[in-house]
Amino acid sequence: MSASESPIASPAPGWAKKFPRDEKIFLVLVLVSVAFMTVFAVGWVIWGSQNVPTRAEIVDQKAYAAQVNEFTKRYQADDGKAWVPPGTDAYMLAFRFGWTPELVLQEDTKYTIWISSADVLHGFSIVGQNLNLQIAPKHGFGATITPDAPGSYRIICNEYCGLDHQKMTSFLTVVTAAEMAATQTTIAAGGAATGSGSGAAPGAIEISADPGNALRFDVSELSASAGTVTISMANPASLPHNVAIKGDGVDVKGEIVGSGGTSTASADLEAGTYTFYCSVPGHEQGGMTGTLTVK
Ligand code: CUA
Repeated sequence: MSASESPIASPAPGWAKKFPRDEKIFLVLVLVSVAFMTVFAVGWVIWGSQNVPTRAEIVDQKAYAAQVNEFTKRYQADDGKAWVPPGTDAYMLAFRFGWTPELVLQEDTKYTIWISSADVLHGFSIVGQNLNLQIAPKHGFGATITPDAPGSYRIICNEYCGLDHQKMTSFLTVVTAAEMAATQTTIAAGGAATGSGSGAAPGAIEISADPGNALRFDVSELSASAGTVTISMANPASLPHNVAIKGDGVDVKGEIVGSGGTSTASADLEAGTYTFYCSVPGHEQGGMTGTLTVK
C-alpha cells in the first residue's frame, strides 16, 4: 500500500474543488424549501382550522371511571347507547379492548368529548375525519367537535395496545335534532325504572353486566347473610365478563363468559365487607366493581 492510499495520510494538494454553479443553485433551492416547510408545518398547527381543539387534564382514574358510569347511566337509551343532549359534555373510557359507552350526538351541535384510558396507551381515531387523539391512563383528553352530518362513524384505536388491538373498534352515531329530542323524552320517562337486582334474597344473588358494554354491573351494592353466598351474573354484553369475589382472604373467580352466558362465583363468607368485580384485565379498573356487605 503506497502512502497516498493510506486513510491517515493527507491527500494530494488540490483535491478539493469549489462547488460548481448548478450545485450551488440546488443547495439554495433545498434551503428555501426546508424553510418553507418548517414555517408551513408550524403555521398548520397554529392557524389551521382543521385542527380539532383539544384539552388535557390529569384525572383520577377511579373517579373518571365513576364519572363515565354515571354519565352512561344518565343518558343510556334502550339501544344501550348514550344519547348526549346538546350542551352536555360526553365521557368515554378506552380499555383493552374496547370503548365505552357508544355515543350518539346531535348534528350541527358543538360537543366536548372527554376520553381517558383504564389501562394502557390507546389512540382514538374517527376514520376519515382527521381526528386522532392519544389516550393515556390518568389523563383526560377533551376534543371539541361539531358533527355536521347524520350517520355512523367508525372509531378505531390507532396505537398498538396488545394482542386484540385490531378489535378495538366502536361507532359514533350522529342523529338529527328531532331524533335526539324524541329519545331524550323516552330516557326521561324511563329514568325511574332502573335498579332491578337489589340482591335481597340471601344466599343467591342475581346481577347483570351492562348490556351496552359499559364497564359496570347493574348494581354497585349487594348485601347477603353470612354463609354460602352465590352471585350469578348474566352477560348480555358483547364483551367477555365474569363475576369474582375478593376480600378478607377470599378470592374466587367465576368463569369468564361471552355474550348470553352466565358467570357464577360462590364462597363461604363471614360477616364483613367484600368486593365483587370482573376479573377480565382492565374491567375492574374501568369501574366493573362493587361492594358486597355480609351481615
Ligand atoms: Cu387500543 Cu390499540
